[in-house]
Formats: sequence, structure tokens, C-alpha cells
Amino acid sequence: MIQETHVLACPPDGAAADWTIPQNWEAYSAQDHKVWDTLFERQMKLLPGRAAQAYLNGLEALRLSEAGIPNFEELSERLMKLTGWQVVAVPGLVPDDVFFDHMANRRFVAGNFIRRPDQLDYIQEPDVFHDVFGHVPMLADPRFADYLEAYGRGGLRALDLGMLKQLGRLYWYTVEFGLVREAEGLRIYGSGIVSSAAESRFALDSDSPNRIGFDLRRVMRTDYRIDDFQQNYFVIDSFDDLLRQTVETDFAPLYDSIRDLPDIPIATILPGDEVMTNGTQEYARAKAAE
Ligand code: PHE
Ligand code: FE
Repeated sequence: MIQETHVLACPPDGAAADWTIPQNWEAYSAQDHKVWDTLFERQMKLLPGRAAQAYLNGLEALRLSEAGIPNFEELSERLMKLTGWQVVAVPGLVPDDVFFDHMANRRFVAGNFIRRPDQLDYIQEPDVFHDVFGHVPMLADPRFADYLEAYGRGGLRALDLGMLKQLGRLYWYTVEFGLVREAEGLRIYGSGIVSSAAESRFALDSDSPNRIGFDLRRVMRTDYRIDDFQQNYFVIDSFDDLLRQTVETDFAPLYDSIRDLPDIPIATILPGDEVMTNGTQEYARAKAAE
């Protein structure tokens, strides 16, 4: 997950210069592994028929159904053979440039801690279940693997150009909360959705959120919420199309064209939008009224 503010400027004690730490797999307790297994089983009841084929293929190719929290070394070995990516552990938040640099070098940074049994439904900081179950299966897809590497390079560039907030929204609305159109209907691939039981349903079934066709400039101008279900989901036509619009596109002129435009408030539908669902926003309204 992209963090917008960072307290630490240099790696904490025990972390390497690139901020990585050992996963320390041996230190997980039986309860930790059980939390993983519980979350895994719960998601596997929901995801067939909801998750994108690329995501489901990745789960299988990486053998994530084996019991317990995956060992990053074994996982990286499998992933390396498929797409050249690795998974490395970091102590929670890392600075933006560190995050992007790892990504540009095909290293996915993951938290190594797992939530407690009383936090199955929600945690604020991404844990190993979100990071590994949510993100890593898509990295087994060659197209998405290329997308994320290019995103890392694009992140370093956006930092230089002062456009991190805009590029961060692209990550949010694709990597974290993206939907894709498949022949049978809409499917989820965003890690924040596939790792959440409640949002796996909400993102596809609820009348409340907007579902809008992906438009790069529009997405980069759109606010998002970090504390609850999304009020907008953006739907890509295919991963090939996402690649064409991002990896194969120079963002400098795009940034110039949106730099001085106002942000788009979260739940607004615009005249040019390809609207799949004009959401009632009932859920968000009820929440706000609490
Ligand atoms: N092509 C973009 C640029 O020129 C970088 C990018 C690639 C952004 C892939 C997102 C995803 O900055
Ligand atoms: Fe994430």
C-alpha cells in the first residue's frame, strides 16, 4: 500500500540499508498460522466466480493453498521462475523511494506480521495476509508483473515531477481496488478486495458504489477513501489494455494536462464517464450518519 507520510528517514534497527528484514518464518506461532488458514478458507469460499482468472491462476501456480503462512523464500523461488519477482519482508511502512525502488527491481515488499484472531475482518496496517494473499497471486501473471515493475519506475519519476498523489491514485484504483471485465461478467483483482471477505461481496454485489470504466486521467484526479469500502470502483477492459495505457504511455504530458485541474470528489459521476453502476451511495451515507 502506498503511504503518503513517513516518520522514519533511515531503516530501523535490525533492518538492512534497503529496509528489508528477515521474515523470521520460524517465529510464527501455531495461532498465527491458524489465522492465515482461517482467512484463506473464508476467501476461497468466496473467490471462485468473483476473482479474476489471472488471480485464481496465480494462487494455484504459487501453491498458496498449502497450509500456514507462506515462507517468503519458497514463495520467491516459485514466483521467480514464473515472472522474475521476489517477495521481501519490511517492517511496516517504508519511504516512497524505497518502495518504488524495490518494485522497479521486481521485489514486492510485504509486512511479515499477521493480524490477531480478533482482527479477522479489518486491520489498518497491511499484514502478511493482505500483502501475500492479496497481492502476490497477480504477480504470477506476466502482464501484471510487468505493470508493477513499470509502476515502480513510474513512481520514482512521479516523485521527481511532484505527481505522487496522482500516481498513487492509479495504484489505489487498480492494484488495490481494481475490477476487470471478463466474458462472464465483472471480476475483482485488487488486493484490498480479494483479501477482504466483506469487500469481495460489496465490490460486486452492492448497489451502493459507482462502477465506472477505467479512464487514466480521470482516475488520477479522483479522491479515495482509506477507512471503509470504496465508493467508486474503476473497471479495466483487460490487463493488456491496462498495460497499453500505462506501461506504453509517457505520463509527463498527462501529468501536465491534469496538474492544474481540480481533484474529483469521491462519489461524483462525470458526463464523460462510462457508467456501469450509478451507485446509490446508500452505504456511505448510512455510515456518515452514524
Ligand atoms: N509510463 C509511466 C510514465 O511514463 C509510468 C507507469 C508505468 C505508471 C506503469 C504506471 C504504471 O511515467
Ligand atoms: Fe496493498
